[in-house]
Amino acid sequence: PRKIILDCDPGHDDAIAILLAHGNPEIELLAVTTVVGNQTLEKVTRNALAVAEIAGIVGVPFAAGCPRPLVRTIEVAADIHGESGMDGPELPESTRELDGRHAVDLIIDTIMASEPGEITLVPTGGLTNIALAVRKEPRIVSRVREVVLMGGGFHVGNWSATAEFNIIIDPEAAHIVFNEAWPLTMVGLDLTHQALATPEVRARIDAVGTAPSRFVGELLEFFASTYLETQGFTHPPVHDPCAVAYVIDPSVMTVRKTPLDVELTGTLTLGMTVADFRSPPPADCTTQVAVDLDTDKFWALIEDALRRIGEP
Ligand code: BDR
Ligand code: CA
Repeated sequence: PRKIILDCDPGHDDAIAILLAHGNPEIELLAVTTVVGNQTLEKVTRNALAVAEIAGIVGVPFAAGCPRPLVRTIEVAADIHGESGMDGPELPESTRELDGRHAVDLIIDTIMASEPGEITLVPTGGLTNIALAVRKEPRIVSRVREVVLMGGGFHVGNWSATAEFNIIIDPEAAHIVFNEAWPLTMVGLDLTHQALATPEVRARIDAVGTAPSRFVGELLEFFASTYLETQGFTHPPVHDPCAVAYVIDPSVMTVRKTPLDVELTGTLTLGMTVADFRSPPPADCTTQVAVDLDTDKFWALIEDALRRIGEP
């Protein structure tokens, strides 16, 4: 199995990403780390532990990371994810304890203790923790296998005309992460806006008929209502598990090798992920963008993971 560290800000779709990583046999979830984003660090961390409770995740360290972005002030997404960060389902109190380490240290320790090329980093929130980890221990760059992140978009934004939420909440951190020499796949809005939880998809998830699948059903119900109200989506895009799905099975999406950078100075384009599609890409290009999703394969992975988790 592919070893991953999931760095997230649950978040409705982050929760589904955790469930996919936990339920899929091709993934070995080494750690779950949290970062301020969809809600405050305290809330997203509590939500991550609630997901662990619901899915019966044991033996995986969970650690809390950065409570604010590197430079910017905190900007949460209560319009989309609610006051709790995961509104909709009733969230269980978790008795699980957090790992005593800061997320940045857990990330560094886990990577440095592994063989080179073993661990894939999967960030599905702002990139604050990952940026700090790379600054604190630069050797992680050559040790990780790749970074597969949900964030950005090469022709569309959702938090401004040109920027996506995970990038614009901490653009300096994103700039650091996008400019390191590790292989990086940007699973951005261009891709995730194809992962729409249609009524058919939601019916398939409901049909699994377990407590975790009901939890996902309730998440999607809330997510659908806010995406309709605030962004005019008929069906909500389920962003974050797309990054996990790519690690499980790269054939779930097409990708294109292209240089990427993050805009830090634009007056209209702060936080834009700029893709340079001029052909051919430079020989030393280590970045690629996700383009087209095989939606049948994607939702089959989600359904399969939920079936395997069963009734923990
Ligand atoms: C991203 O922003 C968050 O609200 C979601 O969890 C996802 O990671 C989509 O722009
Ligand atoms: Ca997220």
